[in-house]
Amino acid sequence: MRASRPADAREVARILALELEIQGDGPALDRDLLQQILRAHAPKPSPLQEFYLQIRDCQKCPLGRTRTHFVFGVGNEKAEIMFVGEAPGADEDLQGEPFVGRAGQLLNRMLAEVGLRREEVYIANVLKCRPPGNRDPLAEEVAQCLPYLRRQIEIIRPKLLVCLGRIAAQALLDVLTPLNRLRGPVLEFHGIPMLVTYHPAAVLRTPSLYDAAISDLRRAVELHRQILEREAAGMPAVQTEVLPEQERRRKTKGDGSVQAMQETLPLDE
Ligand code: URA
Repeated sequence: MRASRPADAREVARILALELEIQGDGPALDRDLLQQILRAHAPKPSPLQEFYLQIRDCQKCPLGRTRTHFVFGVGNEKAEIMFVGEAPGADEDLQGEPFVGRAGQLLNRMLAEVGLRREEVYIANVLKCRPPGNRDPLAEEVAQCLPYLRRQIEIIRPKLLVCLGRIAAQALLDVLTPLNRLRGPVLEFHGIPMLVTYHPAAVLRTPSLYDAAISDLRRAVELHRQILEREAAGMPAVQTEVLPEQERRRKTKGDGSVQAMQETLPLDE
């Protein structure tokens, strides 16, 4: 099969890189010229990759000093469903990827059970660095790190957000509502429908939650289907609910409020 253009460019870059490596400082080809060609052929980073490069060395909070890896996020940059967890744990800190430990394996299994693949969705956390001893994120850490997640959401523009556990939902909505009230309604974050389910770690601790978590995920899949169907038919968006606490926040809080966010995040463009 004939290689496509981008593959040709990659192949040229690969051969030139090899040439550079073999040749060392020898006279065969001009080293600067080779480097120029390589740079010109290097694939342009995507907006999400560019954002990662901007923030990966973050030291805004003390977790920057204790982390092994900055755990940015994983999955399809064009995902229509985005999952949001709390913070990296020990395994995620070591591997640099969200949800790769026991909770992650359970999440993968649950996604598969409802017909989703990890590669087709996007997964990120509220905090990008591991809190020591897996304690809950502190308010100051959330305040420093949340803008990163908001920007990821803005770049990916998922059609549906699924919060894994209370902390993710509370952080995004800027409320202290307990999980039993967050779980159930179709909430919204800047016009993006949002569902909340149990954190996989909670399901590991309390296996009897498994069925309920699966039924939440099935609901997410069905809601996503409805969102697409309505879009295709030019129908109004799915109905969402604004929590009274969210409403109060909108009215009383000048910054970080939904209204202020709408000015900085053109999510509904
Ligand atoms: N728990 C989370 O909330 N996120 C991870 O990435 C891993 C465990």
